[in-house]
Amino acid sequence: MRRSAVLRRVIFTGTLFFCWVVFFGSQSFSQHEKLRVNANRIKQRIMELAEFGKTQQGGVSRVAFSEANIQGRNYIVSLMKEAGLKIQIDEAGNIIGQRKGKEPKLPPILFGSHIDSVPNGGKYDGALGVIGAIECVQVLDENGIVTRHPLEVVVFTDEEGGLVGSRAMIGELTPEALEVVSHSGKKVRDGISAVGGNPDEISLVMRHKGEIKAFIEIHIEQGSVLETKNIDIGIVEGIVGINWWDVLIEGFSNHAGTTPMDMRHDALLAAAHLIIAVNRVATGVPGRQVGTVGRIQCEPGAPNVIPGRVVMSLELRDLSAKKINTLYEKIQKEAKAIAEKTKTKISFTPIDATAVPAPTDPQISKFIAEAAQELGLTSILMPSGAGHDAQNIARIAPTGMIFVPSVGGISHSPKEYTRPEDMANGANVLLFTILKIDQ
Ligand code: GLV
Ligand code: MN
Ligand code: MN
Repeated sequence: MRRSAVLRRVIFTGTLFFCWVVFFGSQSFSQHEKLRVNANRIKQRIMELAEFGKTQQGGVSRVAFSEANIQGRNYIVSLMKEAGLKIQIDEAGNIIGQRKGKEPKLPPILFGSHIDSVPNGGKYDGALGVIGAIECVQVLDENGIVTRHPLEVVVFTDEEGGLVGSRAMIGELTPEALEVVSHSGKKVRDGISAVGGNPDEISLVMRHKGEIKAFIEIHIEQGSVLETKNIDIGIVEGIVGINWWDVLIEGFSNHAGTTPMDMRHDALLAAAHLIIAVNRVATGVPGRQVGTVGRIQCEPGAPNVIPGRVVMSLELRDLSAKKINTLYEKIQKEAKAIAEKTKTKISFTPIDATAVPAPTDPQISKFIAEAAQELGLTSILMPSGAGHDAQNIARIAPTGMIFVPSVGGISHSPKEYTRPEDMANGANVLLFTILKIDQ
């Protein structure tokens, strides 16, 4: 008799507790369901940031560590302060804006992206992820909302030169990577010093598993899937791995008028064959792998001299590191045959600016999908063919990525464009996702 009374009481209390969790759990998010980011402010700030490194073609050249990059960083710091964030520049030069949570012992929720660009790039790549992140904090601030978890807005250093800042954050920025020459012409090491970091203490930046509650990045899609399918939001399920090499082709410079065609060691001719071979290998198997030669230098570079030396880049990307390896082996084999045929020497040097493929976290993706639905937006799951800092952070923390449409699928170009309403949609999804993670 007494045992069944105790049992009844346990069931009753358990049921009450369950109802409390369901009611207040959902209520605490529903309190916020009317919150919205300020679309005009996002647009205006994207345009203001685009003044730093503005190009005549309408894009930006704000490569990491350049003067324009430093000025852009200062502008971002001023916005972070306006949003009430406390600023810290870590040893890798990452800008971190911190906001206290109600429960300071909880690990922080991180969100952000980068503001460095490729040479002659666009206004939105990276910039949206940073401006959108600051916007979310500003909206929380304006509405007097304090989250349980501390929040951190991150601007990663030199994303376009090999995800430098996020590599440091996962403890994988090697001494060799510090010696790589960045787009600015400065070594990464010197660039980090120029933006207020300390390359000699880079290990201090490292965060361990469990120290970050979650990382979320909004980004323009940089492809045409969302626009073609007329979908508002892409939920990234995985991000490609990226490998770079310098390819050196050594031939022999000689007189272009007196050296018969069959006696030449033409390095540029070998390069031309190799570029075609890269394309053949990348298209020769099923899948979404890509291979690119994006930079080439030829010496001595005169119409009447047979090219004696070529240095060119090779980039391979895929969601599988194994596949990248297989493609590389095939390209090396092709290079060997080309070198024999053209009487040149071809060698490959890996560049320490690689990114490994990474899946995102299914729970965070679920939150993003729910957030999109609650905002009345359509969404799909999709892979990312572009590299992102998120793929590094995914190795130490649950990570999600939110894509918004790129008009015409154009990116890394001055013609890059994303509509203000799409930027606002992405930022609203980010805001809701942060609040969901916080519960
Ligand atoms: C980064 O933008 C990359 O995909 O190269
Ligand atoms: Mn980019
Ligand atoms: Mn980017």
